[in-house]
Amino acid sequence: MRAQAQIGKVGVIGCGQMGSGIVQVCAQSGYTVIVSEINDKLLQRGLTAIGSSLDRGVQRGKITAREKNVAMSRIRGTTDNRDFGDCALVIEAVMEDLDVKKKIFGELDRVCQTQAILATNTSCLPVSEIAAATRRPEKVLGLHFFNPVPSMKLLEIVRTPATSEVTLETGREFGASLGKTVIVAGDTPGFIVNRLMVPQVLNAIRMAESGAATGKDIDTGITLGLNHPLGPLALADLIGLDTLLFIANSIYNRSGDSQYLAPETLKKMVEAGQLGRKSGKGFYEYK
Ligand SMILES: NC(=O)c1ccc[n+]([C@@H]2O[C@H](COP(=O)([O-])OP(=O)(O)OC[C@H]3O[C@@H](n4cnc5c(N)ncnc54)[C@H](O)[C@@H]3O)[C@@H](O)[C@H]2O)c1
Repeated sequence: MRAQAQIGKVGVIGCGQMGSGIVQVCAQSGYTVIVSEINDKLLQRGLTAIGSSLDRGVQRGKITAREKNVAMSRIRGTTDNRDFGDCALVIEAVMEDLDVKKKIFGELDRVCQTQAILATNTSCLPVSEIAAATRRPEKVLGLHFFNPVPSMKLLEIVRTPATSEVTLETGREFGASLGKTVIVAGDTPGFIVNRLMVPQVLNAIRMAESGAATGKDIDTGITLGLNHPLGPLALADLIGLDTLLFIANSIYNRSGDSQYLAPETLKKMVEAGQLGRKSGKGFYEYK
């Protein structure tokens, strides 16, 4: 309970796919949470998504109805970032756009107490550049959660050269208090997980593209031969092909490493609106 006692109140910026999951997990772990959205409609959508996710937990017998209500009672929504003034930790989870994130960090730096830690959930942007928008780079780090946040056990902490030991330690304790296993990565393109995942998925796409094997056989090879829960093409569909393309381009642009050059098939599928599970069609079809 050390982290809860130290941090107490957590702020989350953005209540989309990741923000809503982060809010839910924080509230279930005993934190008071305030979450912001750009307008009331999106805020209500996000809060409803959290309620529905907790309801599913109740239906599956993972939590009681009372636990759901207690978690919801710890959450407050806002559309005004000035409400983050008394948070000890604020986690930003808005769209993957460096300029938008820098603007938010500049604003948070002005409204948050000087000792507050500011974190970004970015998948692939340079955390150092986001930190440079503040006057407290030693109190900035990446807290990279995985989707869906309530069920994924991993938290990848990104430490920049400026992140202090105390900030890193608080991040570790915070992650552990949410029941996550914490790993620490340097602020390098793709951090640990995406840096290793993206080349494998792009190689699988290139292999299918070249006709060396069918997509289904590539996935079966990886699931049964390497014991992965999903094959690389099924994983690409789950991530979203547009998101995968964005991450690959971003790592390529930062590193210049040709492993991250997007295959033509991926670009064409995204152009055609075949985005994977979310659009009903990617490398597989979804009902
Ligand atoms: N989706 C994933 O699988 C995944 C996994 C790990 C990390 N991430 C990262 O998490 C971040 C969020 O991704 P997501 O998938 O949740 O996106 P999303 O589009 O589902 O949610 C982003 C939300 O932020 C809100 N928003 C935008 N500007 C805002 C502002 N100024 N103040 C408050 N709210 C604002 C938007 O209205 C939207 O609801 C991105 O940086 C992404 O790279 C995503």
